Amino acid sequence: MHVIAVTNQKGGVGKTTTALAIAAELALGGQRVLAVDLDPQGNLGMGLGVAEDDGASAYEVLSERSTLAEASRSVPAPGLERLKLVPAGPRLARAESELVGQIGFDELLKRALAAHGEADVAVLDCPPSLGALTINAVGAADLVVSPVQCEFFSARGVVKLVEIVELVRNRRNPDLRFLVVPTLYDKRNNICRAVLAELRRSFGHEVAQTTVGIDTRVRESQAKGLPVGLYAPRCRAAKSYRDLADEVRARLTREVRHAQAA
Ligand SMILES: Nc1ncnc2c1ncn2[C@@H]1O[C@H](COP(=O)(O)OP(=O)(O)OP(=O)(O)O)[C@@H](O)[C@H]1O
Ligand SMILES: [Mg+2]
Repeated sequence: MHVIAVTNQKGGVGKTTTALAIAAELALGGQRVLAVDLDPQGNLGMGLGVAEDDGASAYEVLSERSTLAEASRSVPAPGLERLKLVPAGPRLARAESELVGQIGFDELLKRALAAHGEADVAVLDCPPSLGALTINAVGAADLVVSPVQCEFFSARGVVKLVEIVELVRNRRNPDLRFLVVPTLYDKRNNICRAVLAELRRSFGHEVAQTTVGIDTRVRESQAKGLPVGLYAPRCRAAKSYRDLADEVRARLTREVRHAQAA
């Protein structure tokens, strides 16, 4: 199974939107996808139109009370039969404080994913912080996708993300891939363009070719509980996210070749 962690400690940069879109595109393309909501805000489940219930959720998985299969739900949207959701659940906010300090706390999700045979790819939506939940996600990932808003202050945040990716590469997973995704991009704005150019200079091929512009259809789709590619397949954001899903697929496939060659 491939594992994609969508993460950036900065809030409101498009993590959940990107996780939703990638999960939906991969499922529409025929893969069995497990989307895991690791943000106590529960936006991923909302964006997929799954109502909150009291069943097992990401919290029960991380506290080893449930398997991922037991915690997963079907998604109501037509065409997304191959997508399953593990919701955040009402108790996930406790996990941050409960997990830290336990031996091996940072590998709980990795182990749960390794034991789950029912998906080809997992997409993990992280909270806007670098706590226990995000560390679990990055530690389990083959590919870290970081949506970055092209604003002046974002560049520093990317440096922090790169440091974390480097740490994980050095200590645990030398093959970890990293993909920065410019989101909420406004090509008419000089600062946006300058920040994107700087990102490409600094991080080269680790910045996606695809940029995702501001598109009101994105907000509408989330209010309807549908990924944007299903709500308005012809809008600009839907097209960008299809292109991004192709880039993600290419990176995951290269990784397989890399692993086989080793
Ligand atoms: N391309 C886009 N065009 C217009 N609005 C967008 C776009 N991408 C995201 N948004 C909106 O911006 C807001 C933040 O997006 P999102 O929830 O995906 O970010 P996030 O990084 O997951 O936030 P948080 O850190 O709170 O989890 C949402 O209201 C979302 O609908
Ligand atoms: Mg979010």
